[in-house]
Amino acid sequence: MNKTSFASDNYAGIHPDILKAIADANDGHVPAYGGDHYTARAIDKFHEQFGNDIEVYFVFNGTAANVTSLSALMRSYHAVICAEKAHIQVDECGAPEKNSGSKLLLVPTADGKITVDKILPHLERAGDQHHVQPRVISISQSTEYGTVYSPREIRTIADFAHDNNMFLHMDGARVSNAAAGLDLSLKAITKDAGVDVLSFGGTKNGLMIGEAVVFFNRELANGFQYIRKQSMQLASKMRFISAQFHALLSDDLWRRNASHANKMARLLADKLSTVQGVRITQQVQANGVFVIFPRQHISRLQEKFHFYVWNEERDEVRLMTSFNTTEDEIENFIRHIQEVIR
Ligand SMILES: Cc1ncc(COP(=O)(O)O)c(C=O)c1O
Repeated sequence: MNKTSFASDNYAGIHPDILKAIADANDGHVPAYGGDHYTARAIDKFHEQFGNDIEVYFVFNGTAANVTSLSALMRSYHAVICAEKAHIQVDECGAPEKNSGSKLLLVPTADGKITVDKILPHLERAGDQHHVQPRVISISQSTEYGTVYSPREIRTIADFAHDNNMFLHMDGARVSNAAAGLDLSLKAITKDAGVDVLSFGGTKNGLMIGEAVVFFNRELANGFQYIRKQSMQLASKMRFISAQFHALLSDDLWRRNASHANKMARLLADKLSTVQGVRITQQVQANGVFVIFPRQHISRLQEKFHFYVWNEERDEVRLMTSFNTTEDEIENFIRHIQEVIR
């Protein structure tokens, strides 16, 4: 019997419409490596969201979307400025450094978001041949703490990046949750806010496998097809990734899935806030809830429900909801917490 999970949105399975799209694409022979009509139709869907003046490339996973897009923006003496808790820093096993050859420069953050004043110290030695040269600012939307940048906050960072000869990359593994949370379009919080390159998340929002790299600054996509291939991210049976994205971007499925996950996170937070001894630590703006549980009860809670301890020192855990989290699962979890903590 599978345990209910609040560990990650990628513990969830595949959305039925996505699974159907994969099955429907399983018909006959079509050109490999993206030369097929499923890929062309999926890219059209991206054009509907973001306009025609973009470049889109599919890759297998989110780490690859980040690593390949950063590789496209930098030479080995360049550096990426990112939050100290960014996925590229904490959870990619050094893949950005290994593959791009570039250093990550970290910015402290209490809520996952970075701000220009905290970025500034990294520019003190710009132009100094002894120092790596900051070339990219990378932000996560939504952040690793479930918080969300407003379009204005993104625009401020984008303008700062561009004024200082840098680019803005967005790790959008959960960009759909951010857009749904803000009740804005995907374009409003990416292209229109000054983002140059987006890692567009699919897997966490109902896909089986696949993420997209979307270039809003098209010049930066020069040569990207070679980077993708060298990074072993060119799918031969691309149609099955493409068909999933076509379904995700049809009939607002991306927004329906993300809104549901966000609504479940809100419900979970509301219920948790009534439990004595439990403290919510971050604003709930997407599909993550960060909470402090009494230390002595954490492992017992984990016997029945999956979740990760995010900060051992603080006994802070991360609870993620997904497109198919149910209200019953939340009720059961809360009931269990109340029984254990009592
Ligand atoms: C913020 C963020 N970026 C990127 C990823 C992509 O990771 P993966 O390579 O596991 O698809 C994740 C997954 O946990 C994530 O949380």
